Amino acid sequence: MVTTAETTLAEALPVLGLRVSAGPIELSGPDDDTLIALANLAFEGVHAPDAMPFLVPWTLTPPDRFHREFLQYHWGVRSRFGPDAWSLELAVRYDGELVGTQGVSTHDFLLTRSGETGSWLCLRHQDRGIGTLMRRAMCALLFDHLGFEEVASAAWVDNAASNAVSRKVGYRSNGLVRKPRPRPATATESGFDAAIEQRYLLRPDDLVRGPDLQVEGVAPVRRLIGLDD
Ligand SMILES: CC(C)(COP(=O)(O)OP(=O)(O)OC[C@H]1O[C@@H](n2cnc3c(N)ncnc32)[C@H](O)[C@@H]1OP(=O)(O)O)[C@@H](O)C(=O)NCCC(=O)NCCS
Repeated sequence: MVTTAETTLAEALPVLGLRVSAGPIELSGPDDDTLIALANLAFEGVHAPDAMPFLVPWTLTPPDRFHREFLQYHWGVRSRFGPDAWSLELAVRYDGELVGTQGVSTHDFLLTRSGETGSWLCLRHQDRGIGTLMRRAMCALLFDHLGFEEVASAAWVDNAASNAVSRKVGYRSNGLVRKPRPRPATATESGFDAAIEQRYLLRPDDLVRGPDLQVEGVAPVRRLIGLDD
């Protein structure tokens, strides 16, 4: 008789089984309960109303659609996960408390071995060193466990905290690009203005490491992205 063990959610969707700890920081694949908690954190506030740190102005989503669209974005990331183009959007906990997300997005990863990091923290958790620790943990995961050869990032030139984090983590300047930037919530009209984006590139030898990583659930993620075939 053939018996088949039941497959768990984390076995079917390996990102949900990924867990990385580095000192007080934990990065993990978010389940739905974590996603709605993250939506509530983001709704509480990610930046001042007169700022716009992002290329896509998701923080300006009207309150009646905010949580649904936040979930839909993350479900989209989950559902599109495959070797050709994949993104990891990991939940960040600091001393066990949920504080924001740290992500990386890729295209043709097996060829490029490259991707771009992006992150946010709830306003009340900013400027305490958490953003630096979580980016260091993510980059160590990417270089040491997921086969990256470089990691890119970008920030508007006036985003002092994000630029400071990139430099503290060891990224080097990779040029300036002029792009349309969404206007902030305080603008009299919605739309875009031209703004300068600072591009960054991090090489493995330049990474300024944080506390040592403990990693769980990485082998099935490696198989999913086409490593270890
Ligand atoms: C970007 C972000 C993730 C950084 O996380 P964080 O926990 O605030 O960052 P840290 O505390 O580790 O480091 C911030 C650094 O910026 C510096 N900084 C912050 N505001 C600054 C300002 N107005 N001028 C100069 N430096 C500033 C801090 O002094 C600190 O550097 P230091 O440790 O050398 O003193 C967080 O600020 C955030 O979520 N911002 C809103 C969303 C966002 O901008 N995401 C990135 C889009 S590109």
